[in-house]
Amino acid sequence: MNNILFVASECAPFIKTGGLADVVGSLPQALKQYEKQDVRVILPLYDEMDEEWKNQLEYLCSFDVQLGWRTQEAHLFTLTYNQIIYYFISNDYYFTRKGIYGYYDDGERFVFFSHAVIEALKHINYKPQILHGHDWQTGIAIALANILQPIENMKTVFTIHNIKYQGVMPLDIYEDFFQIGREHISGMEWDGMLNCLKSALFHADKITTVSPSYAEEIKDPYYSEGLHPVLHERSGDVIGVINGIDTREYNPSTDPSLFVNYRSARSKKRENRIHLQRQIGLPFKEDSPLYIIVTRLVEQKGLHLVQHILEEFLEQDIQFIVLGTGEAEFEGYFADIAYRYPEKASALLTFDEDLARQLYASADFFLMPSKFEPCGLSQLISLQYKTVPIVRETGGLKDTISPYNELTGEGNGFSFTNYNAHDLLNVLHYSLEVYHNTPAWNYLLKNVGKSQFSWKESAHQYVTIYESQSPELVYG
Ligand code: GLC
Repeated sequence: MNNILFVASECAPFIKTGGLADVVGSLPQALKQYEKQDVRVILPLYDEMDEEWKNQLEYLCSFDVQLGWRTQEAHLFTLTYNQIIYYFISNDYYFTRKGIYGYYDDGERFVFFSHAVIEALKHINYKPQILHGHDWQTGIAIALANILQPIENMKTVFTIHNIKYQGVMPLDIYEDFFQIGREHISGMEWDGMLNCLKSALFHADKITTVSPSYAEEIKDPYYSEGLHPVLHERSGDVIGVINGIDTREYNPSTDPSLFVNYRSARSKKRENRIHLQRQIGLPFKEDSPLYIIVTRLVEQKGLHLVQHILEEFLEQDIQFIVLGTGEAEFEGYFADIAYRYPEKASALLTFDEDLARQLYASADFFLMPSKFEPCGLSQLISLQYKTVPIVRETGGLKDTISPYNELTGEGNGFSFTNYNAHDLLNVLHYSLEVYHNTPAWNYLLKNVGKSQFSWKESAHQYVTIYESQSPELVYG
């Protein structure tokens, strides 16, 4: 059994803002179940976390964390959930705030967290062979692990879930944050700034990202957010491993949020749809397929493309529902569409997990034309609920959805290549055509039903990566 310590800023079910939390929540379970690894997870203790979890915390110890010339106190707590041990680091000043991100000093907060993780290694009775960091918030922990070597022979793996967010700060805070020599600046600096993500890319023994296609894309300036030179330099150590999905968590035959549970029967999906539409006040129309979007309403998700063509597509006999919150521009746009097409469209500008699942269960098509998508979880949930994904061929969308081909009968969805609104419109028209062609539609649904993205294979790939770093792990 190998010891792997995950470091992350969020983890389901304790605290979640996005897909990162799902992965940090479910991958340790898979590594334990399929690969017999002893994975533990260390996280910040946010005030925002539900009492349900706070009440289960057990206090372990307190220690000082040195941030340059300043000393901050950290308190270490633990709890065990589903047989995985979780550690939580608390500090009133940095984490007793509303929400989890979005503060002017987020950089400093996660530099503190990173220092505290390295310090915590001395206080927990557990010696990781691998420290596995996720996203920029843990980049400095990876750098410090390499520079300070807090545990003999401990190696590091760093996973990029989204290269857009890097944790960038002015370089002149270096002395305020670190006690290590100035010779380490070059590894942490990018473009004249202190960059947490780049620090990890420079220092990690192995770099992974959440799909093979994204691993290639981020070497290209269009996707790299400026970091392609660093990734080229490390290209031999960059590996894409597709995320899985917790198939027990997202299972329409047991999901308690649904009006009616089902395996694949369209008649049961229809019942879900009738209930849902009654509840949200959108008249049910027997023969118009339902297209949905469930997402944070941000540019990454390709919403500018949708804005360009949605009204034209609404001329067809279809219905459309969007669920999500986000940028005012998109919320305003969808509210206006719903107002002007009350028989056809509905905008649910809220975040509601139950409603999301009811939507997946009710819909025929799930739309996700992302500008970039490191992996994406929603298209996988959509497959689980037998809803056909329509995606742009980028990152994990490209690696999980293959376009339906009438000639060969292959494919589990629809896709288009260029970030172009009319290419999206064309594929929407094509999806409608296939929907009305019963034999083709049934073929497609059969393929959707067969698509499986459980964590099993990906967990195995991570272990191969861990073991490539620490040969003694294989025998240890
Ligand atoms: C980020 C990415 C998303 C990915 C998730 C988990 O949220 O934007 O594509 O699925 O991380 O890796």
